[in-house]
Amino acid sequence: MTRIVSFSGSGLDLGALHCAMLAAFSDYVVPLQPDADTFKAALSSRGFDPEASFVAVDNDEVIGFWNVATRNTKRYLIGSGTRIEHRGRGLASRLGMAAICVAENAGIKSFWLEVIEGNTGAERLYRKLGFDVTRKLDCYRLDHPSPDRSSCELSDFDTVANVIQRYSTWEPTWQNATECLYGAQLTSFLHEEGGVIVGAGGLVHQIAASEPSALEDLLAAAATVGSLTLVNVDTADNVLCSLVQKLGAHRFIVQSEMRLSLPKVF
Ligand SMILES: CC(C)(COP(=O)(O)OP(=O)(O)OC[C@H]1O[C@@H](n2cnc3c(N)ncnc32)[C@H](O)[C@@H]1OP(=O)(O)O)[C@@H](O)C(=O)NCCC(=O)NCCS
Repeated sequence: MTRIVSFSGSGLDLGALHCAMLAAFSDYVVPLQPDADTFKAALSSRGFDPEASFVAVDNDEVIGFWNVATRNTKRYLIGSGTRIEHRGRGLASRLGMAAICVAENAGIKSFWLEVIEGNTGAERLYRKLGFDVTRKLDCYRLDHPSPDRSSCELSDFDTVANVIQRYSTWEPTWQNATECLYGAQLTSFLHEEGGVIVGAGGLVHQIAASEPSALEDLLAAAATVGSLTLVNVDTADNVLCSLVQKLGAHRFIVQSEMRLSLPKVF
């Protein structure tokens, strides 16, 4: 018989969750098969909350999961999945309802997630659970490093975390929020005219500047460290989106950010 239980109450370990994740994401819309260490690091950096997360367990095997993080009065769906052979039986719906119910009882005010455009099954599931789209997010890859710009200097995360708030015009999504970045070894640059990029030469978590030319300098400086991936750029940020496209970036994913406000109103 299938049990729906919190991960903390399941008696299972992260290894079991990792196996289930690999199986459930084996036919995902983009390749996503992290090794065990990468999977655990991603859960930990996002603030995985074992009591807020739910698993469907059959014969001591995780067959479905809702991996959830908590930050203050917000919860965030890090990932949900059901093993292929167990889909279409309402497991994800039951897991979602359990996670939402526990969040509501804990006084949580909002539940957040992102879903890739084209993952219509998952989006339908989230809408059925009461989530609505709040904004669209672009993900870009910038594979062609540009020449260095001397107007930028390397900086430490504490310094840039203070500066970026001055120039940001939109909230970063959960995984890019400052709370998720403390302790990560990220390369950051400051611009002399005012501006910051966090995550040079890899995953760009945050970028904001006083003017478009400073944004361009920061991207160029960051690209000298290595190829850039910008995940979850608010599509309403026309300046940044046009700039990365002008620099030859390839948009590889569009996501929808979704939110459920709690308590649920019927
Ligand atoms: C999305 C996923 C978790 C759904 O799991 P599931 O246990 O089969 O979901 P349920 O049986 O509870 O179905 C819930 C609802 O989702 C929607 N849905 C699920 N799969 C669907 C599909 N293939 N096509 C259309 N709608 C689908 C339906 O609205 C369904 O409700 P309904 O049957 O009342 O119409 C599963 O397909 C999966 O693991 N996909 C791969 C990983 C993934 O995409 N995760 C989400 C990342 S954001």
